[in-house]
Amino acid sequence: MNKLKFTLILLFTAFFSTSFAQTKLTLHPEEAETQINREIYGHFAEHLGRCIYGGIYVGEDSEIPNIRGFRDDVIGALKDMEIPLLRWPGGCFADTYHWKDGIGPREDRPTIVNVHWGGVTEDNSFGTHEFLDFCELIEAEPYININVGSGTVQEASEWVEYVTSSNVSPMTDLRKKNGREEPWEVKYWGIGNENWGCGGNMTPEYYSDLYNRFASYCRGDIYRIAGGPNVDDYNWMEVLMQKTSRHWGLVQGVSLHNYTFTNSWTNKGHATDFGEREWISVLDNTLRIETLIERHSTIMDKYDPRKRIGLIVDEWGNWFNVEEGTNPGFLYQQNTLRDAMVAGINLNIFNNHADRVKMANIAQMVNVLQAVILTKEDEMVLTPTYYVFKMYSVHQDATLVPMNLKTDDYSVERRRVPSVNASASTKDGVLSVTLVNLNPNSSQSVEFNVTGNDYSSASGQIVTAENMNDYNDFGQDEKVTLKEMKVDTPIEGKLSLEIPAKSVVLVQLQ
Ligand code: AHR
Repeated sequence: MNKLKFTLILLFTAFFSTSFAQTKLTLHPEEAETQINREIYGHFAEHLGRCIYGGIYVGEDSEIPNIRGFRDDVIGALKDMEIPLLRWPGGCFADTYHWKDGIGPREDRPTIVNVHWGGVTEDNSFGTHEFLDFCELIEAEPYININVGSGTVQEASEWVEYVTSSNVSPMTDLRKKNGREEPWEVKYWGIGNENWGCGGNMTPEYYSDLYNRFASYCRGDIYRIAGGPNVDDYNWMEVLMQKTSRHWGLVQGVSLHNYTFTNSWTNKGHATDFGEREWISVLDNTLRIETLIERHSTIMDKYDPRKRIGLIVDEWGNWFNVEEGTNPGFLYQQNTLRDAMVAGINLNIFNNHADRVKMANIAQMVNVLQAVILTKEDEMVLTPTYYVFKMYSVHQDATLVPMNLKTDDYSVERRRVPSVNASASTKDGVLSVTLVNLNPNSSQSVEFNVTGNDYSSASGQIVTAENMNDYNDFGQDEKVTLKEMKVDTPIEGKLSLEIPAKSVVLVQLQ
């Protein structure tokens, strides 16, 4: 083919894919039946970098405004975002954590080395009581991760008893001595973390046996989460399900961890300095979570066809190179519009698989990886990811609405992804649809067709920015935020809407 002909074909393709981009979305609210658990909108806080110390907890004597040592500004922002659940204390840290180090008078608590994250001093001033107090302040359900890697069964069993029991026992006496008369209601308990890696480098066979042993002694009406596979380790899921699910009531959830890099674990890429090639690469890598969920669910279905055991995506998000000049062990990264897109896509996919995905926790809540909040001394920044969580809170405990989505592709060189990604739910007569336009160059005209219902009014919200690399920074006006978006009134269940390039949008009909 000569050069001119090739250029003409390229121009023709580009013209048609940008000017007549079209997405058709048919929604079936009358078929809605699966609940989207609010826990899908959960977060994760580890003793890592400035997540706990500085990010959440500054101590009572700090000049930063606080309630019992917890930052006022962070509490306010989390409540405003409607955070439903928080996982703690790790991560890799969990399998080195001995909970009794973090109870009792602070001055008596031992100082240890945080071996995984920068070798820094951990003074244990934030322990079980502080975590549960913080969860009460932000009105979030707590999820505690037990140490299997370097802990004992007795330690695990006593932690559950200390926190949840109302019986008279040495552990409940100790809790009362430490100032808490009544037990806390803690439903979610993780038993080990990444036990294929930092949590003990175990085989799935060995871990599953260990899980059964630990879970047997973590008693009470609790939701036990087994340490599941790393990304696409389907053998881990198979062995774990086979060995644990046959014991009635021993396992309620299995975790799955999946991080998104620009290229790979060894070439993570930059959080803010990227072009369109890295933009599409991150979005394409994000979309792969759908295959992971489907394939892991198929294995789970074999052992649990009634879907009683939840798939718990308790670590997910973007993992880029740390910001220059920061401690490499602290995993501090900025957060751009690209992160907002990644959050929107992941959350849509989790919603669409709500029959199996019962909880998800973005890593991590403050100052680490794809954080919703960044802090610097007394300043706080709400990231683009924060605004997506705020926008998507409408899906919490709503009912998933089945949909049929037809969209064209957006491509860069040999990478090709669907232009639009979406999910929908209904709650209290309001139909909420969240859409991500992955294309940074052209808007998408979306035709909505809602069956079986006649909605008479519509409203919208949008997260977007001028540039794909835009982010919010300390001491500057926000470049990426949540804004109202005008949406026309639907007529007989039909509505047309132009969704701007590189945006995350919420449309609500009622
Ligand atoms: O979130 C950072 C780390 O990533 C966690 O500690 C670990 O579980 C995972 O490898």
